[in-house]
Amino acid sequence: MNKQDKIKQLIDLRAQAKLGGGEKKIESQHNKGKLTARERIEILLDEGSFEEFDMFVTHRCTDFGLEKKKILGDGVVTGTGTIDGRVVYVYAQDFTVFGGSLSETFAKKICKVMDMAMKVGAPVIGINDSGGARIQEGVNSLAGYAEIFQRNIMASGVIPQISAIFGPCAGGAVYSPALTDFIMMTEDTSYMFVTGPKVVKTVTGEDITIEDLGGANVHASKSGVSHFLIEDEEEGLLLIRKLLSFLPQNNLEEPPTIECKDPIDRLDDALNEIIPENPNQPYDVTDIIYSLVDDSEFLEIHRHYAKNIVVGFGKFDGMSVGIVANQPNFLAGVLDIDASRKAARFVRFCDAFNIPIVTLVDVPGFLPGSSQEYGGIIIHGAKLMFAYGEATVPKITITLRKSYGGAHDVMSSKQLRGDINYAWPSAEIAVMGSRGAVEILYGRELAEIEDPEEKAKAVAEKENEYSEKFANPYQAANLGYIDDVIEPRNSRFRIIRALEMLQTKKDINPPKKHSNIPL
Ligand code: HXC
Repeated sequence: MNKQDKIKQLIDLRAQAKLGGGEKKIESQHNKGKLTARERIEILLDEGSFEEFDMFVTHRCTDFGLEKKKILGDGVVTGTGTIDGRVVYVYAQDFTVFGGSLSETFAKKICKVMDMAMKVGAPVIGINDSGGARIQEGVNSLAGYAEIFQRNIMASGVIPQISAIFGPCAGGAVYSPALTDFIMMTEDTSYMFVTGPKVVKTVTGEDITIEDLGGANVHASKSGVSHFLIEDEEEGLLLIRKLLSFLPQNNLEEPPTIECKDPIDRLDDALNEIIPENPNQPYDVTDIIYSLVDDSEFLEIHRHYAKNIVVGFGKFDGMSVGIVANQPNFLAGVLDIDASRKAARFVRFCDAFNIPIVTLVDVPGFLPGSSQEYGGIIIHGAKLMFAYGEATVPKITITLRKSYGGAHDVMSSKQLRGDINYAWPSAEIAVMGSRGAVEILYGRELAEIEDPEEKAKAVAEKENEYSEKFANPYQAANLGYIDDVIEPRNSRFRIIRALEMLQTKKDINPPKKHSNIPL
């Protein structure tokens, strides 16, 4: 073969690899409303930045006639590229090749990019679309999964890991995404479950569709496994780009700061009016978030899950911030099991990646009842407390309205090392609300009043007395638990000034192997 033939051979092999499972399979992929692995990578990365690795890798299986069926790349496209000029590593399972099923060599390709990402200190994005373990490879395939799992675990808290589920993801295969920081799923074309509907039917007798068992809606709203519910793949890929714009490349870097044109001292008079006169009337805390952040841009995470707490990323004067806010519009913003887990995971992510946390508090307490107690609200609530208490990033808290009982302590209180704790004049910081307090303190005395009108009057008087004393921020401010009571419309400026002041904050936890967070 002369030099030119050799070049031609290379070009031909590349073209062959790029075809994956072939035209027919690509057509079938498109007919299902899905893109191919390479099309996905093209949308995800900066134009022309993709460097592919291991394009010529093939499997080594000699059973079930597979030795005669080798496809270049072996069902997963791996490599590196940039997003907004910053390096990322990526792998995209190619369903057109053996159903994207995972072989020994397939796993090695993924491990290679994960190892490189760890050395370089850059995020890993995994696009999942696979029939699971390659059945013909037996235990080699299981070992391959475990190699990936181990790397997911080691990379956790070191580099951001993002999983897109754009097709099947079943059996043990679900555990790689589960070990990563963020999962997104496409409506209608993706599903995740440990055991599929057929096995469920055989084992438990339950009749359930694939969609109801592990579809994108279920995992976005019921299980909380998925952080983002997306309509189509393009939306998801662009969302990954957006998400990364808030994150540092690794745990040793600060998150990126961008130029901010939104005035830092922008006042919003509407905030002075936003808390309703009636303390039991709900309002939408996201209106406050959108008003505070730069250019009203807020990337909400877990939007459909545990709606009583809102978490997500925003920028303040171009600085990345994680925002946690109780949502009075849903279950009065109460803390329950799901809300505690959701917020705890988010707080820990922010802390791992040096992202300051702004907490907006309006919480009536923990949700009472046997279902919460039996579900272990004690342990789950403790997760959120633990996450805040161990976090060493700058923590700024604004109490908007209610901050009662244990939930007050949990929500980034001064004693959990809150750095700056502000309150609006509408804040009510107390052990509990006036109704409950009056019942406990004066229940017997009030029970003796027989006339209903007189009784109602007495209750109202006692409640007023309690509210006057405690339904305000000043008892906490008198004691220094609140650093200042601020005018709501000025909150953006006060947050930005606090963030600037805290930029050089250093706080450390005692040396230990690791903590024992209540799991
Ligand atoms: C080998 C596989 C495969 C697999 C699919 N294919 N899954 N080959 N191992 N696991 C092949 C099919 O034989 C077919 O090849 C091609 O991929 C496309 O598959 P179809 O079935 O035609 O596609 P579709 O109708 O869209 O169905 C997709 C599917 C189905 C629902 C994913 O293929 C399926 O149920 N696959 C098996 C899933 C499974 O049970 N996996 C093992 C799970 S256990 P041809 O040549 O005909 O085109 C597991 C353990 C992991 O993964 C443990 C980790 C610890």
